Amino acid sequence: MDHSLWGGRFSAPTADDMRQFNDSFRVDQRLAEADVAGSIAWAGALAQAGLISADERDMLVQGLTMVRAEFASGRFVAQPGDEDIHTAVERRLHELVGEVALKLHTGRSRNDQVATDFRLFCIGAARVIRERLLGLQEALVEQADEHTAVLMPGYTHLQRAQPISFGHWCLAYVEMFERDRARLKDATARIRTLPLGAGALAGNSLGVERETLTEALDEFDSVATNSLDAVADRDFVAELLFAFSLIGIHLSRLAEDVILYSSAEFGFVSLDDAYSTGSSLMPQKKNPDSMELLRGKSGRLTGNLVTMLTVLKGLPLTYNKDMQEDKEPLFDSFDTLELGLRVAAAAIATMKPRPERMAAALDDGMLATDLADELVRRGVPFREAHGKVGRLVRRAEELNLSLRDLPLAEYQAIQPELDESIYELFDFERSVARKNSLGGTAPQQVLRQIDHWHEVWSEET
Ligand code: ARG
Repeated sequence: MDHSLWGGRFSAPTADDMRQFNDSFRVDQRLAEADVAGSIAWAGALAQAGLISADERDMLVQGLTMVRAEFASGRFVAQPGDEDIHTAVERRLHELVGEVALKLHTGRSRNDQVATDFRLFCIGAARVIRERLLGLQEALVEQADEHTAVLMPGYTHLQRAQPISFGHWCLAYVEMFERDRARLKDATARIRTLPLGAGALAGNSLGVERETLTEALDEFDSVATNSLDAVADRDFVAELLFAFSLIGIHLSRLAEDVILYSSAEFGFVSLDDAYSTGSSLMPQKKNPDSMELLRGKSGRLTGNLVTMLTVLKGLPLTYNKDMQEDKEPLFDSFDTLELGLRVAAAAIATMKPRPERMAAALDDGMLATDLADELVRRGVPFREAHGKVGRLVRRAEELNLSLRDLPLAEYQAIQPELDESIYELFDFERSVARKNSLGGTAPQQVLRQIDHWHEVWSEET
């Protein structure tokens, strides 16, 4: 028997190349679980509308459950005519339960079906990525907790700027990833709108109640209110791909810092062997490949977003086959991030900071702002203080001395009442401890941030 879902009006078979071009089973078989869940709910709605009997519904549900088990265990055997996941499930259902399977598609189209399936998949994907993000955040908080008092240079323009706590650096990334988790949560709220029952585009005329479907499919909390938009909308895919891309961008920034910091020139951290690789030629090399791949994969994550946006651009209402191209980019981005985030979490958790190298990279120039602040405390307007300390820095450069080694006379030349106590400012720890404003780098604030994160996550359900 021909299991094609649409063969009736055709007199010639699809060309082989066209079939290969059109078939999407290889990709969309990942929707098997979602497709079965959607069909079980649909069978229930058909029975409720009196379109099939309770017995027929039970047979369908039983058969669908068997199909689900076949997919889950890897026993499902695809056939040449399995155009897509929807065709394959229905074909197998027919083999398992017979004629009653022919009633399942009553009032339904693959257009509302695939939109439903894909939404279900995306809800799960967002949930998994949120969990993986949390894993990475926990690794960063753990590092922060252990190294709150470890000092390193903070940079702007990649030039040494002011001393900071290494823990503070870790927690900056926790902030980014928390925004990512929030973004996924927001996006998920919009994915939870159910297209099923919208039919091919115009709605169903057989009296199937759409509201009750959200009870059977509890990942959904509302039904799409315009049937045309219900089958044409793929905003949720674009949104998720954007959220995934931005996670990729954040990972690439973290990776870049770690790549720099693990170089011999910086030497601030050392990556574990398990997350590094060697060179086939140079025996001494240990390369931060985990981080380089994280940085590199941000390219494909952004590429997948651009793919989806480009597919959607200019598409007329409603469903168009172009939209079948929505799944590969999403699956690819999901898989890339799912594994990438696990690697990132483990690489960060096992990374060893090297406090002595960080300390060696601190120089007195990084306390110039502290000097200016001290002048401010003595009543000098900041703009003037900035200029005075600037002149001191220039003097130190001329004399080839560090600020700390400049004779007192030089200090008194810019501010006559200064005395020896000015040299007490040259203390990195005290400098950092003074940055005690909310969100600052003082260890006290870093500890406060760590407490904050523990609290936020313990309140999450
Ligand atoms: N495989 C298709 C997709 O992913 C399912 C929907 C097909 N609908 C249609 N009218 N041909 O988009």
